[in-house]
Amino acid sequence: MATLKEKIEQLKEEISSYKQNSAEEIEKFRLKFLSKKGEISELFDQFRTISAEEKKELGQMLNQLKQTATEKYNTLKDNMAAAKENSKKEDDLTRPSYDLDLGSRHPISLIRNEIISIFGKIGFSVAEGPEIEDDDHVFTKLNFAPEHPARDMQDTFYINENVLMRTHTSPVQAHAMEAAQGKPIRIICPGKTYRRDDDDATHSHQFAQVEGLVIDKDINIGHLKSTLELFAKKMFGEKREIRLRSSYFPFTEPSVEVDISCANCGGKGCSMCKGTGYIEILGGGMVHPNVLKMNGYDPEVYSGFAFGIGIDRTAMLRYGIDDVRKLYTNDVRFIRQFKKMS
Ligand code: DAH
Repeated sequence: MATLKEKIEQLKEEISSYKQNSAEEIEKFRLKFLSKKGEISELFDQFRTISAEEKKELGQMLNQLKQTATEKYNTLKDNMAAAKENSKKEDDLTRPSYDLDLGSRHPISLIRNEIISIFGKIGFSVAEGPEIEDDDHVFTKLNFAPEHPARDMQDTFYINENVLMRTHTSPVQAHAMEAAQGKPIRIICPGKTYRRDDDDATHSHQFAQVEGLVIDKDINIGHLKSTLELFAKKMFGEKREIRLRSSYFPFTEPSVEVDISCANCGGKGCSMCKGTGYIEILGGGMVHPNVLKMNGYDPEVYSGFAFGIGIDRTAMLRYGIDDVRKLYTNDVRFIRQFKKMS
């Protein structure tokens, strides 16, 4: 026959592995272990019959066993009550709804909205144009001659000889000038653009730009410079400075490329700016007289400036993104990081 000590150990094992969860099973547990006629009471009866020396050791074990059984019983009861409460909630159609896990704005949208807000404060309104365009608006009306090599600067997705995916947002300039019919213009045009590029860390066949166009009397390159300086400081910080380098675009003369002083080293030169102290952010210039003429403005009376900002590039510089493909592969772990900024 098992000794008292063995029986205590056996019951302890049985109690701790007890897993039933229905109300009847819990009641059975109470009857079996904790009631007056239960097994633990029986062991207490047996306890009275043993020697004083054994009582010293087994008394403590027996008390502990009773405590373990009581705690187990309470836990089973609590779990049961919680489960019941939950299932009641599920049935209650008047309960408050679960929190919706709201998404975050995409970094491209964040930057686009910020650009709209910066230029909005100095009087620019937003214009849009089609992504599927004709050759006229994408090239001809922007002073690209039919065989001009500058057309090769942009690898184009053609739908047919005359219809294509726009390679830049500049065609919105031509649409805006047609619509304004010789009146002053001050617009920015955010939108998607397409080029037949092989995707890699710095190229994407689809990307986003913001075009800017101002046409009025007495507009000069000082206006372009101060406008872009304001943009650079608002987007990248008050300490940033800009630098204009002369460049070439068919639709502007003179044309410039605009660099900002490197945020990482403040202009001293580091690996981010490849030792130059500056990072290129956009292109711009004074609207070419041919473009003004072709789109209904007298270049003797009107002048203007234009610029094109890469939204992807701005987002990459602003948020320290090292691969443009991260903006387009929609990995939610990447996008969720922008939740705080939405
Ligand atoms: N369209 C040019 C591009 O995609 C960017 C650009 C440069 C736009 C100069 C402009 C400009 O309006 O004046 O590379």
